[in-house]
Amino acid sequence: MTRSKAQPMAFGPGGPLVGAASVPGDKSISHRALMLAAMAVGRSRILGLSDGGDVLSTVAALQAMGVRIARRGDGWEVDGVGAGGLLQPRGALDMGNSGTSTRLLMGLIASHPVTATFIGDASLARRPMDRVIAPLRRIGADIAAAPGGRLPLTLRGLSPAAPADFRLSVASAQVKSALLLAGLNMPGVTRVIEPVPTRDHSERMLKAFGADIEVAEGTEGTGGERIISLTGEAQLSPRDVHVPGDPSSAAFLIVAALIVPGSEVRIEGVGVNPMRAGLFRLLEAMGADLTFSNRRESGGEPVADLVARHSPLRAVDVPPELVPAMIDEFPAFFIAAAFAKGTSRARGLAELRVKESDRIAAMAEGLGAIGAAVEEEGDGLTLHGSGGALPGGARIASRLDHRIAMSFAVAGLRCSEPVTVDDMTPVSTSFPGFAAALSGLHAS
Ligand code: S3P
Repeated sequence: MTRSKAQPMAFGPGGPLVGAASVPGDKSISHRALMLAAMAVGRSRILGLSDGGDVLSTVAALQAMGVRIARRGDGWEVDGVGAGGLLQPRGALDMGNSGTSTRLLMGLIASHPVTATFIGDASLARRPMDRVIAPLRRIGADIAAAPGGRLPLTLRGLSPAAPADFRLSVASAQVKSALLLAGLNMPGVTRVIEPVPTRDHSERMLKAFGADIEVAEGTEGTGGERIISLTGEAQLSPRDVHVPGDPSSAAFLIVAALIVPGSEVRIEGVGVNPMRAGLFRLLEAMGADLTFSNRRESGGEPVADLVARHSPLRAVDVPPELVPAMIDEFPAFFIAAAFAKGTSRARGLAELRVKESDRIAAMAEGLGAIGAAVEEEGDGLTLHGSGGALPGGARIASRLDHRIAMSFAVAGLRCSEPVTVDDMTPVSTSFPGFAAALSGLHAS
């Protein structure tokens, strides 16, 4: 993949953020909408699909395997080939920066008679793929990966593959979804047991596309685990999907509004699935003035319009049970905590070390550089919040990680001296209009 030239950008104090902003369609839901539409027989329409680079990697990979996908008006049309209908791609599948594309497509391809090579950028090539390689080998996929179970890797799928029962050893919606996607083209029941519940977008959307899927919520005696059973071979029917706005993108604008005095920002149509809304609940516990209105369903997902107003924030200890529901929001949370009054603690975050970057190290280093008092301890961070502006005046390495770049852009707005993010290009993987959204809120 050719990397575009680094784009440094400075973010400094610029007054209140006021007005309405929009965020791209939810990235997680967008990947799933494309893949399930591809596995249906006939034409689906997707409205509100994310225009981020990660989702475009999924589009390109599915196209390379014979799925016709085209932009039409304000939506996308996908002509599904049915479960089992993927074709052999000619070249390697370039996943760019996208772990979700990689892991979910590995699952999808594992039960097809297709051999695919996955490549990606330097960040993706560092991320562990063992968590999907091991269970997919169990159903018969043949996988050769670079040392450490990393990209580049070549996967030879098997059809018919043998369904199995899987107990997840890491709390990962990507692994769960990879196995369920593999199950679509396997004869019999694929069962995934999650000891710790993770985002349930795949389950919701599989139901919406007509898959035979059952979800049993564990009782207390079973530790609250969830058991998901999917019966293949699936006959999915095409449908229209309305993708809600991405709460993980909204998080940055919300934290910006909360920490910059005088701000009031409105974002319509944001996904508020409880398995994704952990940050919102935590910010409220910190004293954030957040209003949710017009709650409704869109594409089988709960959605609301959101208003965030500047609020003096108090420190908080992150309850461990909230971690899966805000796993992508820790960078944004750390920024909020760095400006809050008092000492905040978050633990049990080992997974953050294997995201697009080591987010514990990246945030600790960056926050230290802008003058915050922060301690990195094992799998967590302790932050002694400033209760007001921080010095800033530093250059931050974004480490090919969109969320690190956006976090320090937001922090810069509440610093005395501008903060320079060394490269804003990674932001286009999830939120191409982020910098424009911030300047739009400053101008109104
Ligand atoms: C995602 C699941 C999470 C999340 C990622 C998207 C998904 O990863 O961090 O950004 O769409 O299923 P894990 O499955 O590794 O927890």
